[in-house]
Amino acid sequence: MNLLSIMELKSNEIEKYLALASKIKQTPANYADSLKGKTMAMIFEKPSTRTRVSFEVGMTQLGGHAIYLDFTSTQLSRGETLHDTAKTLGRYVDIIMARLYKHSDILEIAKHAGVPVINGLTDLEHPCQALSDLLTMKEKGKLKAGAKFVFIGDCSFNMANSLLLACAKQKMNVTLICPKSHPPNADYVNEAKRYSKVEVVDDPQAGIKDADVIYTDTWISMGLEDEKSERIKRFAPYQLNERLLEHAKNDAIVMHCLPAHRGMEITNEVIDGPHSVVFDQAENRLHMQKAIVLSLLGKA
Ligand code: CP
Ligand code: NVA
Repeated sequence: MNLLSIMELKSNEIEKYLALASKIKQTPANYADSLKGKTMAMIFEKPSTRTRVSFEVGMTQLGGHAIYLDFTSTQLSRGETLHDTAKTLGRYVDIIMARLYKHSDILEIAKHAGVPVINGLTDLEHPCQALSDLLTMKEKGKLKAGAKFVFIGDCSFNMANSLLLACAKQKMNVTLICPKSHPPNADYVNEAKRYSKVEVVDDPQAGIKDADVIYTDTWISMGLEDEKSERIKRFAPYQLNERLLEHAKNDAIVMHCLPAHRGMEITNEVIDGPHSVVFDQAENRLHMQKAIVLSLLGKA
């Protein structure tokens, strides 16, 4: 069993992850020795703070061990194939997590590893983040059928893809607010429409009206640095600021996967303000990572 995308998760599988993560969060001591003797390899082709630390701490707290492998200091940087790397690692470790550019590369690892593989972010999806964000929404009383989830900004990349499907599969209504120049991934929108209502709008004030949850992410995702100045121009009208937030529900929550580019996609006033739950989100990464690893290793 792998966790490669929200696309391939069923609604009831998402619910199982949520229930297990809640249980682990409430009673962490009950899981202290669950992964004694187990090792995770963590391959990073892109930078990370939260994903790396939460998986590594999670493995430690479960009694296991995690090995950090920076892409550039492995033989991958000298041309060894993902095929050979995955087969080799599969002979040593019990589970592999990888953060990569191309989604096809995580599929390649999963095909050859012979052990469970977790997508720690690709250009297409960030499933671990989306699952832990659902946990945060649930804790805040927002994960309800018919509640309005709004994603504003770059709706064409990993976070928007994973959240769109994760929320739709939990029957939330999804509004994507983005410039016409950067439309969302049509496959993801069409798939999400099978589960819930999805609308794509380019007017921030109209889109955010009556929102229960408002989510934003960087306009310059890892790997898109060359497009920085163009993107800043395109996305400037889509900044999540106090003026815009006034149009959401009074008790709306503001979410961001982090890292944030303060003053760009979100202002200091909003990210540090009373609606923001961003550090609860960051904490929940730890509880959800544990749930993911335990499930994939058949230990829960
Ligand atoms: N949200 C998230 O995945 O953060 P990192 O890039 O720090 O891992
Ligand atoms: N969309 C962002 C998410 C970072 C966690 C990126 O890919 O850089």
